[in-house]
Amino acid sequence: MHTEQILALILPFEKGLLPMPERAFLMRAEPSEVLTEDWRPLLVCEQSFKPAFTALTKAGYQAVERLSCAFPVGLLLLTKHKVENRANVARAWSLLEPGGVLVCCGANALGAASFEREVVRTIGIEGQLSKHSSRIFWLRRPEGESALPEGLADWLASGEPRPVDDTALVARAGCFSADHVDTGSRILAECFPAGIAGRVADLGAGWGYLGVRLLERFPEITGLDLYEAEAMALADSRTNMATAPAPERATYHWHDVTAGLPAVDPYDWIVSNPPFHEGSKADPAIGKAFITAAWKAIRRRGKFLLVANRHLPYEGELRKRFRSVELLHQAEGFKVYLSTNRHDK
Ligand SMILES: C[S@@+](CC[C@H](N)C(=O)[O-])C[C@H]1O[C@@H](n2cnc3c(N)ncnc32)[C@H](O)[C@@H]1O
Repeated sequence: MHTEQILALILPFEKGLLPMPERAFLMRAEPSEVLTEDWRPLLVCEQSFKPAFTALTKAGYQAVERLSCAFPVGLLLLTKHKVENRANVARAWSLLEPGGVLVCCGANALGAASFEREVVRTIGIEGQLSKHSSRIFWLRRPEGESALPEGLADWLASGEPRPVDDTALVARAGCFSADHVDTGSRILAECFPAGIAGRVADLGAGWGYLGVRLLERFPEITGLDLYEAEAMALADSRTNMATAPAPERATYHWHDVTAGLPAVDPYDWIVSNPPFHEGSKADPAIGKAFITAAWKAIRRRGKFLLVANRHLPYEGELRKRFRSVELLHQAEGFKVYLSTNRHDK
């Protein structure tokens, strides 16, 4: 997936510009053929997105949801989110042993060159390369320097959960729609039908917007299971749910919904604003897998509420799984479906 960036990330070691480490962390890790037997055993891979975490574990990597101890070398794959990259550089610096080195790499197409210039201005770098349509640069934590340099302290703080526009809720950079409520989710919440009650699940719950609205409006909900693959978003959903009435009704699952839900009692209601991207490309198969997971986990007469961009081909999939599929609302480029009476499993 990130083959070019991973090839680029290890280039300073392959070229002999940096010595091969005995231990290193890899932040925002993905399994890759490019990481040879030399690399695999010495890496501790950080990945907070459950499908990638599972893929790393299956491929034999040591994977953790969040890094904690100090390392002589760190490797960081940059993403398209500048604020997340800043926070990751600052956190990676704080995970280095004194004298340790951090190598960062990002695709040119994702703005890595401009981010490199920002790092140069803020903390300075030791070396850089340009190869595989990527920028590679590295910086060193000085011997004996224990406190995070001022510029990096600001960067670290910018990665903390922040207020979401026009709400009393928070979310951190890198999570889906972290600074404002997603239009699809707002529309879905606006047309929640009366009578949502009993056991409810939210598939792809993000930082908990729909969950909060459900608990605020429906005291008859007895339990709300939030399923979300991104651990950072799930952590923010816990904070946000605490603002809702009787938040003890919520349970949090760091889970890949495309793999199906765990064996649980069937749900009375399921809501979802499913993801439609895998990396940078739109992939309706993910939404279809969410529909299948909902169909399998819902009780026979349970109700499934789904919001999606109106161009996405979900109606056929819903009709395959449910006898009754009603277009409840259509606005601002989104469609909300209410599906009931599931077909037999
Ligand atoms: C369109 S967003 C909706 C988020 C949230 N419901 C809201 O209202 O803002 C889809 C969410 O699904 C999560 N997600 C992506 N792939 C997933 C997967 N395989 N399993 C579970 N959640 C996933 C994303 O991290 C994201 O938070």
